[in-house]
Amino acid sequence: MEIMEALFTRRTIRSFTGEGISRENLTDIIRAGMSAPSAHGRRPWRILTVESLEKRKALMPLCQWWQMLDKAGVAIVVCSDKSMAEDMPWEFQLNDCSAACENMLLAAHGLGLGGVWLGICESDEKIAKFKKVLEIPDNMRVIGMLAVGHPSAEPKPEERFDPKKWYSETWGRSK
Ligand SMILES: Cc1cc2nc3c(=O)[nH]c(=O)nc-3n(C[C@H](O)[C@H](O)[C@H](O)COP(=O)(O)O)c2cc1C
Repeated sequence: MEIMEALFTRRTIRSFTGEGISRENLTDIIRAGMSAPSAHGRRPWRILTVESLEKRKALMPLCQWWQMLDKAGVAIVVCSDKSMAEDMPWEFQLNDCSAACENMLLAAHGLGLGGVWLGICESDEKIAKFKKVLEIPDNMRVIGMLAVGHPSAEPKPEERFDPKKWYSETWGRSK
């Protein structure tokens, strides 16, 4: 799929067939994530893929918005290795890992798969439980998770371009 087409047609997919993802597709998705831009080239991302249905089901009670995890082919957890960017504003880790997440969603779409970004920031208690289930060590900051799988529904692309949100030369002057 051509890159501009992928950008304009990607939509969040929340219903999946339950079929697994091939190793080749999964590798391409992770590779796309690791191709993201990164502040000072630190690439702090560390990625955990969870194909086990048992483990994915164990995560579902942690958030009411994660109820598609059992039908996805894989959960992709994106963490930042805190030690990689301690001398920089912490937001850079968030920026880097978020760029990786979007790259992976676009890669999944380009491969004919679908995905949803799942936010992980409800409470320290939930994050602690999440880390415990997946045995994620303390030096990792959990940034986000994606559920990726074979779509069982096809949402329509939607035009999001809004010229009112685009200013030119000085703030408030519309393009
Ligand atoms: C940081 C972040 C957290 C999100 N968390 C969830 C979530 O927990 N569950 C969910 O179903 N969708 C989640 N989404 C997906 C958004 O709801 C979705 O991107 C939005 O509705 C726009 O739809 P689109 O992706 O099709 O453009 C999240 C998206 C982002 C960027």
